[in-house]
Order: sequence, then C-alpha cells, then structure tokens
Amino acid sequence: MKKTLMLKVNPQKPEIQKLQIAAEFIKKGGLVAFPTETVYGLGADALNPKAVLALFKAKKRPLDNPPIVHVENTRDVYRLAKTVPSKAEGLMEKFWPGPLTLVLERSELVPDVTVAGLDTIAVRMPKHNVALALINQSGCPIAAPSANLAGKPSPTTAEHVFDDLNGRIDAILDGGPTCIGVESTVLDLSVKPPQILRPGGTSFEALKEFLGDVRLHPLVAAERELAVAEARSPGMRHKHYAPNAKLILVEGSLENVVEKVKELIESCRVNGSKVGVLATDETASRYKADVVKSLGSRFNLAIIAQNLFSLLREFDAEGVDVIVAEGVPAEGLGLAVMNRLRRASGYNIVKVK
Ligand code: TXA
Ligand code: MG
Repeated sequence: MKKTLMLKVNPQKPEIQKLQIAAEFIKKGGLVAFPTETVYGLGADALNPKAVLALFKAKKRPLDNPPIVHVENTRDVYRLAKTVPSKAEGLMEKFWPGPLTLVLERSELVPDVTVAGLDTIAVRMPKHNVALALINQSGCPIAAPSANLAGKPSPTTAEHVFDDLNGRIDAILDGGPTCIGVESTVLDLSVKPPQILRPGGTSFEALKEFLGDVRLHPLVAAERELAVAEARSPGMRHKHYAPNAKLILVEGSLENVVEKVKELIESCRVNGSKVGVLATDETASRYKADVVKSLGSRFNLAIIAQNLFSLLREFDAEGVDVIVAEGVPAEGLGLAVMNRLRRASGYNIVKVK
C-alpha cells in the first residue's frame, strides 16, 4: 500500500508549491489524480510506458482500453498525432480548452501501452486551471482516464477518488467538485464523416452545427446491448458506470414513467429489497421508497449531469439493493446522461408510452 497524499488546491489559482509536489510524482513515473471540468482524472506521464502500465494497474483497468491524453497546448497535438486534419484544427480552435476529445492517427512518439496498441490516439485539452498547470509543471502530456476503479461511476469529487484509490496512487489534487459531471465527448476524426464514440460534455447539437456532417456511433444511442464487434471505442465494450445496486431505467413520457416507477418500487419491495429511486425535482415527492434522491430539475440538464455520478455513489453508500431511475430527455447534456444510465443499468430498460 502506498501513502496517498491529499493536496487541497485553489481551483482557480492553484498554489505552485502543491503543483510542484504533484508534478514531481508525474516526472518520476508516479500517479496523481486531478480535477478537470468534467470528472477527476488519474494522471501519468503519457510518454512513459511504465507509468502508464501502473495507471492501468491502479484502476484495475483492462489493458485494451486506452486512456485519453491531456495536453495544455495545441503544439503537443502535432507531436502526438501523425497528421492533424483541418477539421481537427477547427475543432480545437472552437472547443478547446473544453470537454471534447479528438481521436486522431497516432505518431511514433506515443508508446504502445498508452494507446493499447491502436493506431489512433485520443487527445483533449481540459478547461481547468489545476489540470492545465499540472501538465505544464510536469513538462509532458498526461494520460488520464477517469480516476475511479474500473467499472465504477466516474469521480466528481476528491473524496470519490479517495474512496476508490486510496493506497493505490501517489497523490490527489483536491480542487473541489467538478463542474460538468459527465466525461468529455469522444469524437473520432479518423473516419468520415466524424463519429461520436461517447456523448459527453460537448453536445451532439453543437458539433453538428459546427461540422455539418457528424454521426452518432450506433452504440451511443443504443437502448440494448449491441454486438461487441461493432464497438469502435474499446471503452464501449466494458461494463461501466455501474453502482453495486442493480439499476432499472424507466423511459417514456413523464406521467407514465412515474406510474411505472411506483409499480416497480412495489414489486421490488415484495422481494424484500431496499429500494432507491433516482427521481427529479418535479417528481421526487410522488414516490414512497426506502431512499428517494433527486437529480435536479428536468428543465436543467446541466445540473442533472453534474449530480448523476455522485448520487449513484450515494445509493451504494446507503446499501440500496435496487435503484429505479427515471429517464430524462436525450438532448444536449441529456444524451450523455441517458447513455450513462443505460449502461449503468446493463440495458435493463423498461419502456412506457
Ligand atoms: O472527461 C474525460 O474525458 C475524463 C477526464 C479525466 O478528462 N477522462 C475519461 O477518460 O473519461 P476514460 O479513460 O475514462 O475514457 C476514455 C474513453 C474510453 O471510452 C476509451 O475507450 C476511449 O476514450 N478511447 C481512448 N482512446 C481511444 C482511441 N484511440 N480510439 C477510440 N476510443 C478511445
Ligand atoms: Mg472512465
């Protein structure tokens, strides 16, 4: 067991001494968790194969699922990618720093382990002063998957990281709760037209407006499990975002969803299960279950995204056996929320009219 150092930092103006301590770990091949605008990442020197291997081990992440490489300037993208198409340049200009990850052809500089042997690399520039300053101080691009144990919901606070990874990593930079709450959008530019492999903090609508032609990978909008062979992004193949409790997702028009959720609460209770409901402000008072939590107002999908992973972890902390979750509109950030909920449910989805 390692001793994991917890370093509280000012999220806007991170203290230089603390950043230097964290950067020293990265330079020596160590592992440091840090906040981004989406979720916390677990960072290692992307160009040091031993460090990246340790990253996979600490997270218990399968070696075939590569992390995103984080940069603090666009020059590094030209070192990491073999070619940078003009579409990528336009996207970087418009959406960086921010929650958009670009999949490009990789260069020779990148170690195989960092890209899990693929011929592409996923890169992004986070919009968070702590993340940007850490990359800068470390003097290298930083490979950083979300800082959770593989399969668990991504961490949106330093405490979540601590709960999953204490004793397994060198340090955690605690910059408070993250702002967006779901991960970045992963956009594959190695295919034509560009394809969204994971919906996230940058909306499909915004990318469509900018690019004209952009598609959702079929698995992104999937409401059932599709054949593994269709997965273009390794992350699509793995179990993800799952709380310990079994999750049932109810989708449809609001009134019918509420009625169905009530029915499911009753039927689960008959089995003696401790039942939690993941509701919204507009509906929470209508349920009687062991635990009822609200994601926020249905009219504010940004708040819903912000609260999602944290509430899933809270249900586990309260020892709930079953979570019955209401679906939300799959538009804007709601597409990312629904994608995470569908996957967290293992596609255990009940559709109503
Ligand atoms: O917001 C985020 O993206 C956060 C923060 C920390 O930046 N990071 C994050 O990383 O969510 P991670 O490793 O948990 O998710 C990376 C996703 C995975 O689904 C992975 O399969 C995919 O990106 N990915 C990475 N490299 C890829 C590649 N070359 N081609 C296709 N997908 C790739
Ligand atoms: Mg992850």
